[in-house]
Amino acid sequence: MHGLHARLPKNFVLEERLERYADAIELEPRRLAGRWLEGCSPVGGPRLRELRLDLGCGKGGFAAESAAREPDVLFVGIDSEPICVAYAAQKAVEDGLANLVLVPALGRDVAELFAPGEVGRIILNFPTPFPKKKEAARRLTHLDQLLLYRQVLAPGGSVVFKTDSQPLFAFSLTQFELAGFELTWKSEDARADRPDDPVSWYEERLGRQGATVFGLEATPGPLTGQVEQTAELSLAEYLPEDLTQLSYVPHGMQGTVTNLRNLRAKQGARH
Ligand SMILES: C[S@@+](CC[C@H](N)C(=O)[O-])C[C@H]1O[C@@H](n2cnc3c(N)ncnc32)[C@H](O)[C@@H]1O
Repeated sequence: MHGLHARLPKNFVLEERLERYADAIELEPRRLAGRWLEGCSPVGGPRLRELRLDLGCGKGGFAAESAAREPDVLFVGIDSEPICVAYAAQKAVEDGLANLVLVPALGRDVAELFAPGEVGRIILNFPTPFPKKKEAARRLTHLDQLLLYRQVLAPGGSVVFKTDSQPLFAFSLTQFELAGFELTWKSEDARADRPDDPVSWYEERLGRQGATVFGLEATPGPLTGQVEQTAELSLAEYLPEDLTQLSYVPHGMQGTVTNLRNLRAKQGARH
């Protein structure tokens, strides 16, 4: 995620941070599978009513704002980067958000961390695009991931996905269809459509660079027969043919777009 990583402050010692904000970090999340709401509800207080998962939560701004707005909902933020977990946990502790828990884990772990039907909503804000074909399975909207989400979503539960990346969005539409999801919302300007949604760190920064946001919400529909990957896996395949007209280059695809522009310019010069 070149160029957009948060700069680490001087004297940032990861272990020390993780320890300082340990109250908001769950290091043994598997033990809570099937009883997250019960296990995280405040002693003597009202029971939390729903679990929402912010997968790839980054520094946790979106999850923290969501948790502040809905104190009776449990927000679980998962990220593979311990630094992000440390920042998000700091926010949860400093803002006094007892309904926000951070977990260092990977998207592929979800079916072990949650019981079937335990998750009301899975939120995917600006997931890392992994443009290359060989990395496609790492995308949080890859078919294999979507099949895992089906296992943990509650009846009527949904996946909400937002991205600045038109190629990732186009690829993801193929995956949601293959995984038997039904779209209940699809937008090429998610901020205009849902203006009251909290803004994530990446949405804020990419918006300043001219990004508009693609978004969708989808619920599991019937799944019949064999599920098979039939989509093009390289995100380059989903870019428009005429790259000279591309005014905004999606985050994480700068290298791919530059290479393709050079290639096409060379091919054009030969003809
Ligand atoms: C582009 S950032 C978006 C962060 C945040 N959602 C936002 O909108 O500001 C993507 C985040 O996903 C995390 N990530 C990437 N692959 C992941 C995976 N397989 N499982 C969990 N987190 C992942 C990265 O560490 C990073 O923090």
